[in-house]
Amino acid sequence: MAVMVLIGAQWGDEGKGKATDLYGERVQWVVRYQGGNNAGHTVVLPDGQKFAIRLIPSGILTPGITNVIGNGVVVNPGALLEELGELEKREVDTSGLLISADAHLVMPYHVAIDRVTERYLGKAKIGTTGRGIGPAYQDKVARMGVRAQDLLDESILRQKIESALELKNQILVKVYNRKALDPGKIFDDVLEQAAQFSHRIADTRLLLDQAISRGEHVLMEGSQGTLLDVDHGTYPFVTSSNPTSGGAAVGAGIGATRLTAVMGILKAYTTRVGSGPFPTELHDEWGEYLRKTGGEVGVNTGRDRRCGWFDAVIARYATRVNGITDYFLTKLDVLSSLEQVPICVGYRVDGEQLDEMPLTQTDFHHAEPVYEYLPGWFEDITGCRDFDELPANAQAYVRRVEELSGSRISAIGVGPGREQTIVLHDILEEQG
Ligand code: GDP
Ligand code: IMO
Ligand code: MG
Repeated sequence: MAVMVLIGAQWGDEGKGKATDLYGERVQWVVRYQGGNNAGHTVVLPDGQKFAIRLIPSGILTPGITNVIGNGVVVNPGALLEELGELEKREVDTSGLLISADAHLVMPYHVAIDRVTERYLGKAKIGTTGRGIGPAYQDKVARMGVRAQDLLDESILRQKIESALELKNQILVKVYNRKALDPGKIFDDVLEQAAQFSHRIADTRLLLDQAISRGEHVLMEGSQGTLLDVDHGTYPFVTSSNPTSGGAAVGAGIGATRLTAVMGILKAYTTRVGSGPFPTELHDEWGEYLRKTGGEVGVNTGRDRRCGWFDAVIARYATRVNGITDYFLTKLDVLSSLEQVPICVGYRVDGEQLDEMPLTQTDFHHAEPVYEYLPGWFEDITGCRDFDELPANAQAYVRRVEELSGSRISAIGVGPGREQTIVLHDILEEQG
């Protein structure tokens, strides 16, 4: 039995969707445990079909398994129906999707507040996806959120929307000079949407616990990444949930002792979307090279991703805060045809060299990368399926990344397709 968490080890977009799809065929359950439709996961199936998954677990593309939207996720009902509709139009069987009764809902006022807050912040904006994710989590913690289970009780739903809007409308009108939203209309719209998915609302904690006790395999699919975690990321330039592995137990409602492996998805270089510090960011032609060669454009918002070299300080940090047991190193193919490949092995901050994350936000903003340069390779590696087939310099790069990151590399991505993967250790097999 394996309960494996797949988490982004950097700032998101590491290739989590591809990893979920790869292991999906051999598990019975895939669970999303945090975030919402701020995520964008690209999956390329063996027949070449490409999917952009946002709120629904990427396991939905694997026939016959159960996919769970856990209690830690925030669900926008309209976005859910839109994504279900897109999948069904492409003949994906969505009947195995369940939603935790305790998942919170993203309401239209959350989206409105996300957008006006960002405008208000001006140059200091976070660069959010504008999907209302932060405001929905704020309401959850403030104990004024609306949950999936409220859709099953009309009078509670009406009361909750009315009382939330009493406050939100004051903020929208008096602080941001926007129009007030109509609680009656929101109630009617949400109820109509709920009619199309309320049969999916379930006690997913219980079902997962029972499945684990039966010895079934479960994948916990994180969205975003370690450095976007509200506790462990580059605060305040983070998302409002816990993508790190501890978030998996909380956001799925299973005990932490049930987790058996934590796989970090690690891109062979680094990207980031939105604002915030990024020590190895490249503003020159190499940044453009990575963006073009790696196709680094946001799946969800279409924004260009900021690009930079691999940062081992961040990887080591991710290993530590997540307890990463295995790494999936993705996009190694993107680094082919470089004369030499830089790896950031430490930072220089105010004349001092650090090899771990700085203590303060200010120091991280001032961190300058210290690079080590490895010889590059020019061969096309997209067809390699065995580690030994990789050019010697590519092998040396992987081994150096592994050594600096502090956890074994168990899989390597050499292209976007499911089969474009080199497997070094079969984690599911190892776990029985
Ligand atoms: P996620 O949010 O972590 O699921 O990642 P995204 O889907 O947002 O971004 C990763 C992108 O890289 C997607 O376009 C994937 O199809 C692609 N990808 C994943 N693994 C590889 C790989 O090993 N090589 C290449 N060239 N592309 C990859
Ligand atoms: P996946 O799952 C990359 C970033 C946003 C912004 C910050 C806060 O595809 O890796 P939010 O809308 O969450 O309040 O925005 O987090 N962000 C992501 N960046 N990949 C993602 O998801 C992201 N989800 C949010 O750009 O900087
Ligand atoms: Mg993404």
